[in-house]
Amino acid sequence: MIKRTDKLYPVGELPEPGVLPERMYAWTLRTENLGEPKNAFREEIVPVPEPARNEVIVANLCASVNYNGVWAALGKPKNVVAGNGSYSDKKEDFHICGSEASGIVYAVGEDVKSVKVGDRVTVSGGQFDPDCPVVRSGADPVNSPTYRVWGYEANWGGYAQFCKAMEMQCHKIPDTMSDEEASAFASAGVVAYRMLTHWEGNRIKKGDVVLIYGGTGGIGSIAIEITKELGGIPVAVVSSDERGELCKKLGAAGYVNRKKFSHWGTPPDYTSPEQQKKWLSEATKFRMAVYRAAGKKQAPAIVIEHPGADTIPTSLLVCANNGMVVLCGATSSYWASIDLRFLWIGQKRIQGCHSGSEEDFIRYMDFMSEHGIKQPIGHVYSWSELPEAHQAAYEDRAFHGKSVIRICSRKEEKT
Ligand SMILES: NC(=O)c1ccc[n+]([C@@H]2O[C@H](COP(=O)([O-])OP(=O)(O)OC[C@H]3O[C@@H](n4cnc5c(N)ncnc54)[C@H](OP(=O)(O)O)[C@@H]3O)[C@@H](O)[C@H]2O)c1
Repeated sequence: MIKRTDKLYPVGELPEPGVLPERMYAWTLRTENLGEPKNAFREEIVPVPEPARNEVIVANLCASVNYNGVWAALGKPKNVVAGNGSYSDKKEDFHICGSEASGIVYAVGEDVKSVKVGDRVTVSGGQFDPDCPVVRSGADPVNSPTYRVWGYEANWGGYAQFCKAMEMQCHKIPDTMSDEEASAFASAGVVAYRMLTHWEGNRIKKGDVVLIYGGTGGIGSIAIEITKELGGIPVAVVSSDERGELCKKLGAAGYVNRKKFSHWGTPPDYTSPEQQKKWLSEATKFRMAVYRAAGKKQAPAIVIEHPGADTIPTSLLVCANNGMVVLCGATSSYWASIDLRFLWIGQKRIQGCHSGSEEDFIRYMDFMSEHGIKQPIGHVYSWSELPEAHQAAYEDRAFHGKSVIRICSRKEEKT
């Protein structure tokens, strides 16, 4: 039986672990408010949910900004508020985003074994039904039809005083890891590590050049560090020289400023040969700039893709023969056209990569502690700045790695 209290706690204060308030403050999305993040997120008071048998209620210390929050606020490409309740949760008119958090366990369902009230945990973003036949067969759970991203496809994410997650998402964290860091490594780091190491035939090898878009963003910054640790040669693509210099500090061999090129997007087709020639000439100049940044004329064995439509035609051109363009998102648009000749003539691979399983998470935790790497963290925002934190991500003003929102964490760290 979970103890409850009627008291509504201000953000930053908490009852003792094991006692759940009836209500809490949350940043919610509602269908009628969808649009730019600065206006879409609204603070309101909502009930604190009960955990199901395999669920955990966590008091959120920090939550990091995940681009999912931007997609959800915009309501594009899908309205997550309307889809809310598609899984085991009851349908609500509001949606609480936030796909990565750190916190203290406040209540556990009756079957939960791996964490207990009072534990300090990180909450990762992938959840699935462990009884699904795909999962039971031992296959990659990310391929299960029940796999969903918490705080995006599933409600009750990290942008509230308390979140509701499945046991599989909660992992105890060492005391040496700060609340901010614990909230920020699970999504970008796990997916970047998976992109570089998971795909048989195209796993990173010593001496491989790896081209990394958004080198100062969440995924890009940690992909630089992981590539370097694994003996690869990271080359970043960024939108300013200031960002490029930061990538070099993170370990990139060099960078290319994408603003110096004008060919981005779809290559013109055979009906416009002159335009096509122009596109190819610009894209080839970009390829030469990648060689210069790498310090050698060696095409990237792996391209870490997430801008999508604007960059994927170029990624395919610059990727080495037999190499892989591995894509985990599409910030610029998911609707892309490519010149297929670059794919088949160079026998290249376009590989989708999404989130990660518990196994990926544990492998990545071990990798981090073995190699002493940390997710770069940029700005730490207060609770009231949550809409602005997402607006900054939407307008591509946020850089220096992941942005974090401090919720119930009392530790005042330098921002
Ligand atoms: N599937 C998954 O598991 C997973 C996990 C995490 C994130 N994602 C997705 O991956 C994407 C990136 O996430 P993130 O956390 O790294 O975001 P982020 O911190 O906002 O960084 C994204 C970076 O991409 C670059 N960029 C933006 N628009 C671009 C364009 N049109 N062309 C080239 N570069 C562009 C920007 O750098 P410059 O302006 O400096 O070039 C920006 O810093 C998002 O779409 C997110 O939803 C997927």
